Amino acid sequence: MSTFWSAWIIVIFVVTVAGVCWVLVANRKVIVKEKPKDGEAPKTGHVYDGIEEYDNPLPGWWFNMFVGTVVFAGIYVVLYPGLGNFPGVLGWTSTGQWQEQVTKADERFEAVYSTFEGQSIEELALNPQAFKIGRRLFGNNCAVCHGSDGGGGYGFPNLSDDDWLYGGTPEAIEASIIHGRRGAMPGWLAVIGEGGVNQVTEYLFQIGGHEHDQALAEAGGKVYATFCVACHGADASGNQAMGAPNLKDDVWLYGRSPELIKTSIRSGRQGLMPAQKEMLLESKIRLLTSYVYSLSRQ
Ligand code: HEC
Ligand code: HEC
Repeated sequence: MSTFWSAWIIVIFVVTVAGVCWVLVANRKVIVKEKPKDGEAPKTGHVYDGIEEYDNPLPGWWFNMFVGTVVFAGIYVVLYPGLGNFPGVLGWTSTGQWQEQVTKADERFEAVYSTFEGQSIEELALNPQAFKIGRRLFGNNCAVCHGSDGGGGYGFPNLSDDDWLYGGTPEAIEASIIHGRRGAMPGWLAVIGEGGVNQVTEYLFQIGGHEHDQALAEAGGKVYATFCVACHGADASGNQAMGAPNLKDDVWLYGRSPELIKTSIRSGRQGLMPAQKEMLLESKIRLLTSYVYSLSRQ
């Protein structure tokens, strides 16, 4: 903050506090001077719609509480930051407090995590304590997208089955978590037209063993061989190197209805798994990897 704005805030603070103190003291009445005969408090003489205003002093507890808040404000701005650039004599900062808590938590958890060091992902997956911590980490960091049981949802892959976009080995799972993933399915409507979309969808139903239109499926096979094999493979079993899903196993990331499948083909799909390496310690990522690995093995 520049010196001007710092001084601006200090002046506003001092003038406001002094101002309200003055208003309070200047208007304070300690005793009611003359008690009228009927024993009631005196009146100011103000009348509104027949309602008269009493001329009572402020209650003592209220006045003292007000003085208390002024004293509190004075002590507070001396101890803590608040008066412009003055940092306060205690030297407290919110980032300093946060950093202290993070360091403390990391130290505490590292002590626990270090007992898992040297264990392979496969070993960790069998360790009940590692599983418990992994489940908690998953609940905090991954469940928003993948579901609390890892079961996934529309556009978010199921991590508890044995069907993988990018591979289910410990290395592949760890890579998915550390670096994130970006699915890149181009849209095909402009290339193959609505007719081509219908044909290739019938072809997918044919190879998946579902009801289909024979003539359309046959034409769709040609479309598939021209435009889709490069990524989804000649037998449509997918390609984990680029996250192209298996298209005949009846596991659908974006829904199994004909309309949803056609939407995938028409407009393409770009699923995004955010990289975690900036956000989570390596030791946490290892526990998450072992947790996800064990989910698909239960
Ligand atoms: C913002 C939503 C989001 C969050 C949070 C998220 N993911 Fe993902 N994740 C995705 C999406 C979307 C994909 C699929 C990417 C694609 O379509 O190519 C994915 C893919 C994956 C994969 C690859 C699955 C496969 O079949 O190969 C793994 C493993 C994974 N996530 C684990 C995790 C873990 C562990 C966490 C918590 C640290 C996490 N994800 C947090 C959205 C998310
Ligand atoms: C450049 C590689 C590439 C090509 C070519 C390609 N795809 Fe894909 N496709 C992908 C990827 C990657 C995904 C997964 C997208 C994601 O994870 O968000 C996908 C997803 C899909 C899906 C959704 C699957 C699901 O589980 O919901 C369908 C359907 C599909 N592709 C059909 C086709 C058809 C039909 C063609 C040919 C006309 C084709 N793709 C061509 C890469 C490709």
